Amino acid sequence: MRHVVVNGANGYVASHFISALLKRGLVVTALVRAGRQQSALERVSAALLAANGDLCLPMDKLRVKEYSLHEKNLGLDSQEAARIFSGRVDYYHFAASLKYDEKSWKEIYAANVEGLENSLKTFTAHAGSEGRFFYVGTAYSCGHHQGLFRESFYPDAGISAFRNYYELSKRMGENLVRTFIEEHGLAAHVLRLSQVVGDSSNGQVATDYGVFDFTRRMARLARRYPQRKVRVKIDPNGSQNLIPVNQVVAHLLRSTETDELPVVMHIVAREGVSNSYILRQLNELLPIDLQAEPQLKQQDMDAVERLVAVGMSFTGEYSRLNLHFDTGQRDRVMGAEAGVVTPDDVGRMLRTFVAAGNYAEVGSV
Ligand SMILES: NC(=O)c1ccc[n+]([C@@H]2O[C@H](COP(=O)([O-])OP(=O)(O)OC[C@H]3O[C@@H](n4cnc5c(N)ncnc54)[C@H](OP(=O)(O)O)[C@@H]3O)[C@@H](O)[C@H]2O)c1
Repeated sequence: MRHVVVNGANGYVASHFISALLKRGLVVTALVRAGRQQSALERVSAALLAANGDLCLPMDKLRVKEYSLHEKNLGLDSQEAARIFSGRVDYYHFAASLKYDEKSWKEIYAANVEGLENSLKTFTAHAGSEGRFFYVGTAYSCGHHQGLFRESFYPDAGISAFRNYYELSKRMGENLVRTFIEEHGLAAHVLRLSQVVGDSSNGQVATDYGVFDFTRRMARLARRYPQRKVRVKIDPNGSQNLIPVNQVVAHLLRSTETDELPVVMHIVAREGVSNSYILRQLNELLPIDLQAEPQLKQQDMDAVERLVAVGMSFTGEYSRLNLHFDTGQRDRVMGAEAGVVTPDDVGRMLRTFVAAGNYAEVGSV
């Protein structure tokens, strides 16, 4: 049985993964930053509680260590780092800044490129021949790539090849991993996730990223301006590649149980869910009439539509895409059922999310 080490352990995806690992009886070391008010242990416990609904987990199997992505040996003393990373260990690097804008570039670069490099160096210095490094990347490192995006490395490119600085940094991260494989013989894998949503087994959604960020904004808008017709600059024929967090966790579990793995794998839905379906669902669930108008120009928008457009500064870039991700390598490891996500799965999550009403306080749209 492998010892699993996870950094960014209090994050959304990582905390779901750790819950599942503990339930399987694996020993997990969670690397976490301490917060201003909370210790590393308190932060991981809160995240596990949110991911799992309770803390009925074999917590004796969990070791929590405070760390820093930016210090030598991740801020661990050398003996401790050797203890953590030696033997049959799988190290999952989740930590990343999810900011995307130009003015955050310094912070994005520090976390997603320099922090990753430090993580790779620390692991390479202490791991033995049985250690494996897993870089949690994004399928959107495809940037503006046309046609099928393959499960292989692509060269670094300038910002014009991407939708934002987050994507750029994640491509740079993949190529750092590649360098460590080629120059240091590191056993490493890149797992490219698409948009991670809620749990398709129960419809619960504990993230408000991407489509759910848009849903939250539209729910607030509907509350403030009920029954209003709002044109949104979205291509109804575009689609969203949404992968439920329980499927991501199943893939990650399989990765730690499997010896022979491809270097790059896409953890994505087999097919995207169309924007027109998502808008139809929102129109049924909320007192609002959203109308997709892909050619809508800023100067033709009314004040409310402009407000919506500002709130879509991130999601807007993803509202006119139909991306094609190769999954041949993933399917060979995970099986033919991997990545099956139906519009009904997404519809159920949208219903649960809207019914939970966590967005309801009147805030920005
Ligand atoms: N969610 C998605 O839809 C999605 C899609 C594709 C790929 N991914 C990838 O999956 C991974 C996890 O994403 P997530 O959605 O679970 O994100 P998340 O909930 O925001 O978690 C991010 C984690 O990274 C840590 N982190 C950020 N900056 C750091 C820094 N400078 N030093 C140390 N730790 C830092 C955060 O720690 P603090 O809490 O201390 O800031 C947090 O633990 C990321 O690598 C992301 O690129 C996610």
